[in-house]
Amino acid sequence: MLAGGSGTRLRPITHTSAKQLVPVANKPVLFYGLEAIAAAGIGDIGIVVGDTHAEIEAAVGDGSALGLRVTYLRQRAPLGLAHAVLVARDYLGDDDFVMYLGDNFILGGIQDIVGRFTRDRPAAQIMLTRVGDPRQFGVAELDAAGRVIGLEEKPVAPKSDLALVGVYLFTPVVHEAVAELKPSWRGELEITDALQWLIERGHGVESTVISGYWKDTGNVTDMLEVNRLVLESLDGRLDGRVDDGSELIGRVVVEAGGVVERSRIVGPAIIGAGARVADSYIGPFTSIAADCVISGSEIEYSIVLPRASISGVSRIEASLIGHDVEVTPAPNTPRAHRLVLGDHSKVQISS
Ligand code: G1P
Repeated sequence: MLAGGSGTRLRPITHTSAKQLVPVANKPVLFYGLEAIAAAGIGDIGIVVGDTHAEIEAAVGDGSALGLRVTYLRQRAPLGLAHAVLVARDYLGDDDFVMYLGDNFILGGIQDIVGRFTRDRPAAQIMLTRVGDPRQFGVAELDAAGRVIGLEEKPVAPKSDLALVGVYLFTPVVHEAVAELKPSWRGELEITDALQWLIERGHGVESTVISGYWKDTGNVTDMLEVNRLVLESLDGRLDGRVDDGSELIGRVVVEAGGVVERSRIVGPAIIGAGARVADSYIGPFTSIAADCVISGSEIEYSIVLPRASISGVSRIEASLIGHDVEVTPAPNTPRAHRLVLGDHSKVQISS
């Protein structure tokens, strides 16, 4: 599991926290990957960590809560995905392995692909998905029979719209490829180049095209969309306190220690542990993280990270709000807000 990198595309959120820990329905995106790995019957997991190692380690611990045995592998600098394989070389030994990028969100888990790989054991098994702008991904070229004949990292002129998804399965032959790589134009050892190496030497590289894939590209629209999707399958649950003056409609989760007073919440929505919602409207597809305060405000289709406070603001929509952010009214209009606020931002808003 790769959980290093600098997360430049998700600034300012990643100025202060690891991109893999950005929450989707109040759970770090990384945890969906860890759960998918556990569900595929894999118990040993090496997590490659970089500068944000302390935060990742604090969140995941020894992995036992997820049924995993976690070993942390330190990558000194973000020198590429293939470099992460180098870092993990001793840990991996001669085992087949899955490489999973901790900032990728894949619907439907990896059980099927792990099953297929174990059965057929090609040198590598990759997942592809159709994307609008392939230039920000690794891109595959397939022949008429659907076989992968070429791969290119972040091509200026993509040969297809099939992007590499951040889940790869390998037999140990990949270590030979990785050992021979040279840094790319962006100074990284690219796993895409390792795959191309395997193809050129006649090793089998199998692909599966999937749908239901998101990579967080700093595009808040994508994040909100994943959040919406996960909230869609939420079951309502009331572990916190909701007063008589409040109305909960549809599937709403109020986590332990969460308080809702004189408010209207239209689900699916989740209110985190220790969060307080008062005199407010929380609309569909909204995740309010732990220890937030929302008062006298309206917010919907948004993600609010822990300890943010929003008071006297109507209405916030389609926004991602960082840790410890404070949003308060400003003296004047206009009244429409679409916000992307970094951790610890303070913004004054007209209401
Ligand atoms: C990496 C890979 C790229 C792949 C992408 C999926 O990109 O290099 O081939 O399509 O992950 O998330 P990066 O995140 O390093 O830009």
